[in-house]
Amino acid sequence: MLTYALVGLEPRRVEVEAHLQKGVPSFAIVGLADRACQEAKERVRSGIVSAELEWPLRRITVNLAPAALRKEGSGFDLTIALAILAASHQVPFGSLRAHAAVGELALDGRVRPVGGALVVAEGARRAGIEFVLCAAESAGEVALAGVDPVPVHHLAEAVAYMRGDWLPASPPPLSPTGRVPVTCPDLAEVKGQRRGRRALEIAAAGRHNLLLAGPPGTGKTMLARRLPGILPPLAREEALEVTRIHSVVGLLPSGQPLVAEPPFRAPHHSSSMPAIVGGGSGPSPGEASLAHCGVLLLDEFPEFQRPVLEALRQPLEDGVVSVARANGRAVFPARFQLVATMNLCPCGGRGDAAGCSCSAARLAHFREKLSRALLDRFDLVVAMPRPRAVELDGSGEETSALVRERVQAARVRLEAGPPRMGSEARPLLTEAVEKLPLSGRGRARVARVARTIAALAGTEEIAREHLAEALSYRIPPELTST
Ligand SMILES: Nc1ncnc2c1ncn2[C@@H]1O[C@H](COP(=O)(O)OP(=O)(O)OP(=O)(O)O)[C@@H](O)[C@H]1O
Ligand SMILES: [Mg+2]
Repeated sequence: MLTYALVGLEPRRVEVEAHLQKGVPSFAIVGLADRACQEAKERVRSGIVSAELEWPLRRITVNLAPAALRKEGSGFDLTIALAILAASHQVPFGSLRAHAAVGELALDGRVRPVGGALVVAEGARRAGIEFVLCAAESAGEVALAGVDPVPVHHLAEAVAYMRGDWLPASPPPLSPTGRVPVTCPDLAEVKGQRRGRRALEIAAAGRHNLLLAGPPGTGKTMLARRLPGILPPLAREEALEVTRIHSVVGLLPSGQPLVAEPPFRAPHHSSSMPAIVGGGSGPSPGEASLAHCGVLLLDEFPEFQRPVLEALRQPLEDGVVSVARANGRAVFPARFQLVATMNLCPCGGRGDAAGCSCSAARLAHFREKLSRALLDRFDLVVAMPRPRAVELDGSGEETSALVRERVQAARVRLEAGPPRMGSEARPLLTEAVEKLPLSGRGRARVARVARTIAALAGTEEIAREHLAEALSYRIPPELTST
């Protein structure tokens, strides 16, 4: 019987064969199965007995082919159980051919969902298989792949279905277009901070990376958390790609498995390298990949471990993470928008009327963590001042819904044909490269931001003022000068 192993986000065909021989009863699984997969023995045996089926008292060998491919996790349980039951004539052999299966078995025979059911189902569809047996919770995911899920709660149900004695109740229809209401806090709550709000809007429209720096309590975190609320929904292809990644780590809600909104991930600064960039056993995607097509917020940016920050440089450039696995590498997409917040110095007083009390050495140590190469990858850097009292008392700030409309309109313009550099803007850019100075990457990033600003303004050409605004978001002196 067929199932699929995951290599990164790719399904690899695995044929599960069971062979029963006369002799002293025993049970072996061969075919490069990892520990969780070897433990299937106990779950499968116990599951079969609990389902009131017969455990064959033979020498049982289960082969997972091809042997060269590493099999990880517990998702093979259901397939192994059905292969053994077929070999002992408890389910008809013929019925296995049209089906693939994915799911873990509990000791009492219940079928549990596993991560990656969507990817397994996609493998089945490519092989022309129409039906995938899976846990009831995975049915929505499997249906997204374009095959018919056969949701089962218990191994006994799977067997009854294979014998033609039982049909699962058809699952409730999915509503793939139903937009889940955004539970993101509203921008109207952020008072003042006009520059910060403007930068957030530009970042949203052009998918730019944004760094918000400033003294404590000025609304940096507050502003960053409101970015998802002004982003347009994902296109169908993007949504499927994001859903695939979230499926692998088992993050999908069973009722509404399609991720239609840009994901928002905000890992804590104590998070490890595998947690953020991906890896570990499996290997599984990290926060950078879970934020694919969405936002990765690194709040208190300098507190993250330096190697973790450096490891993010590559995905920021290429949009993919490549992690080592037992044989070869696994590649996960990671085209995320980075938003980071930070204080300007360890004591937090810099940029504030109170002033900074950090020693030069302490300040130097703090900045050392943020290599120039890393800072260079932010398209927009904003130093946020302490809001004035009148601003905090004020009301009537724009709502997220209003800003989202402008963002959406700018996205449409950028996709239709981005604004070109105007004749007045070009000399200013040349001058900036010489005077600031701007690196090659810096120049390209400034030009991209200027394009987004022009698209927000609805013009066909990048004017001098658009470029000047883009240049104003380069690394401010508060972050580099003493
Ligand atoms: N511009 C603002 N408008 C409205 N409320 C604000 C503003 N700035 C700060 N506040 C209030 O202060 C609280 C703290 O803001 P926030 O957590 O965003 O600060 P921060 O800049 O991230 O500070 P830190 O550097 O300490 O993390 C908010 O929950 C909010 O109540
Ligand atoms: Mg904060």
